[in-house]
Amino acid sequence: MNVLVIGSGGREHAIVWKVSQSPKLTKLYALPGNPGTAELAENVNGISVDDHTAVASFCKDKQIDLVIVGPEAPLAAGLVDSLSAEGIRCFGPSQAAAQIEASKSFAKDFMARHNIPTAKYATFSNYDEAVRYLQSVDYPIVIKASGLAAGKGVILPETDEEAKSTLEDILVKKVFGEAGAEVVIEERMTGQEVSLMAFTDGTSVVPMLPAQDHKRLLDGDQGLNTGGMGAYAPAPIFTSEMMNEAIEKVLKPAVNGMRSEGNPFVGVLYAGLMLTPNGIRTLEFNCRFGDPETQVVLPLLETDLVEIAAACADGNLANINIQWKNNAAVCVVLASKGYPEKVESGKVVTIEKLPDDMVCFHAGTKTENGNLITSGGRVFGLTAWAEDIASAVKKVYANIDKVTFDGMQYRKDIAHRALEGAK
Ligand code: AMP
Ligand code: GLY
Repeated sequence: MNVLVIGSGGREHAIVWKVSQSPKLTKLYALPGNPGTAELAENVNGISVDDHTAVASFCKDKQIDLVIVGPEAPLAAGLVDSLSAEGIRCFGPSQAAAQIEASKSFAKDFMARHNIPTAKYATFSNYDEAVRYLQSVDYPIVIKASGLAAGKGVILPETDEEAKSTLEDILVKKVFGEAGAEVVIEERMTGQEVSLMAFTDGTSVVPMLPAQDHKRLLDGDQGLNTGGMGAYAPAPIFTSEMMNEAIEKVLKPAVNGMRSEGNPFVGVLYAGLMLTPNGIRTLEFNCRFGDPETQVVLPLLETDLVEIAAACADGNLANINIQWKNNAAVCVVLASKGYPEKVESGKVVTIEKLPDDMVCFHAGTKTENGNLITSGGRVFGLTAWAEDIASAVKKVYANIDKVTFDGMQYRKDIAHRALEGAK
């Protein structure tokens, strides 16, 4: 099969890495890809992912049998609809199904319609109404811009004043643009967070191994929020009872609900779960693989990803037996100086040979004059897998000095919760 992977981050390098091992593969392309994917696939330059007609022509020209879409933006922009209309097989949801991530107000109303456990909420597009509502809420709360805001649209105000100024920023000053045309105001919950991704063909749903990521910049979960500083899987805190609860109360009702509403969801459904004292609650759904969770989950997948993705696209997932390695994986993000604020780029990178069962996934690199240089906040996801989390942690940190660039920063305590016995 000829396969095209859309995207250019660490998640897409991990997808390309896994797909490149498929016995079904003939030729693999990444659009646009990155210097990491270039070692495993042919990177496609000169075509914008936003130009659906050009992507479709490329697929026809190269006789692509399967397109795997990595990021949410092209899914929310309807890339899968455009390609499917041309008869091109895709692993990823339609624009209508991608609303489950692209519109938080859609997702919350959807969860309410299908009794999927989530935080109490209300939705507003009018500033005065939202402020009036604040008088009736029990603090603490969470305020979210409804649209895609690159992970920045969730604010945790501590006081009434802060809540009001947040609402003013989003609804009046439009700091998130159209993504903030609506806000969701939610009760704030407490508990550990687990990322549970699942494969689905629109009818069957099969969970992957549960993962946990680390949003804060600094050790001990301190400092600014980031796109994610590391991840590990499987998350020991997530018991098999919790897995069953998540399948029955979250994943199945979501997949069945989307289908019954006429928007069958095909691809990866990612449930962001919070393990509260009152049971599992759904923080959010994403319509794609997580980043950096994919970098730890795919190395543990035994089964061929191409076979699974094709089965999802064809509605045949029930016929596939998905197997996992009895290992654990840990990914430590190596970030540029200044991340997540003002990022330094253009630093020359050196990578020495890594031992087996390790990959350095590229997230923000490019090649210039034959040199590999940094070109973003999160530069690499250094990943190792081993028989258990403690061994994988040891391995990744023992090899971290094999990657060097000026200003490199990383957390030294990735997987601390798992190592402390999931406190
Ligand atoms: P979201 O994009 O909706 O998952 O929100 C991003 C992050 O904000 C989550 O990973 C949580 O850490 C936090 N968060 C969101 N909603 C809530 C909530 N209702 N209660 C507590 N924390 C929340
Ligand atoms: N790691 C969080 C996300 O992919 O949205």
